[in-house]
Amino acid sequence: MKFFLDSADINEITEINKTGMIDGITTNPSLIAKTGQNFIDVISEITNIVNGPISAEVIATSSKEMIQEGQKLAKISPNIAVKLPLTRDGLIACKTLSKEKIMTNITLCFSAAQAILVAKAGATFVSPFVGRLDDIGHDGLNLISEICTIYSNYDQFTTEVLVASARSPIHIIESAKMGADVVTIPPGTFRQLFKHPLTENGLQAFLDDWASTGQSIL
Ligand code: G3P
Repeated sequence: MKFFLDSADINEITEINKTGMIDGITTNPSLIAKTGQNFIDVISEITNIVNGPISAEVIATSSKEMIQEGQKLAKISPNIAVKLPLTRDGLIACKTLSKEKIMTNITLCFSAAQAILVAKAGATFVSPFVGRLDDIGHDGLNLISEICTIYSNYDQFTTEVLVASARSPIHIIESAKMGADVVTIPPGTFRQLFKHPLTENGLQAFLDDWASTGQSIL
């Protein structure tokens, strides 16, 4: 399973990238706005920090302008994945950009029917939003299960399932059980993955017992 970090914060990305567990980055217009910085500058800097796919989202809503914006974003770096909304125009743009060998990430996916269209458009990634479905009382993880099942039925569907809007370690664990290819994780949720009270208590007990020996290794 690949881990992408869902952030445009350079300091967070730099710090968490030190774990060696980050395989890419996803951003969106809201995350970019939070930085208060220039979009192109932020994306350019991120592509120099993380080698994997860096998702940069278009703002246009017509396929013609989405293609123009996507082609411009793709020129920033070979590891740019152009993020496009899951609309009719977004999928038309996806087909064109994919034919030009530009990585694409179709975002704001909320149904299996939409995910089938994404695979037929030849997208690199589809981003189903688990947390936002949970937020309105729907079963976000069930969507991941449906998409993974459907995609596994067709060899010609090469789109990778990129679980997005992950709100907790449970979303990551259950998505991994279903065979999702990627999960994009907010920094806080990523930090939660390391934590377990029994690990912390067990380590402290080891350290306390070792201290009683009066020995040192180095
Ligand atoms: O960036 C796409 C997705 O991960 C957004 O998540 O938490 O805003 O629903 P969220």
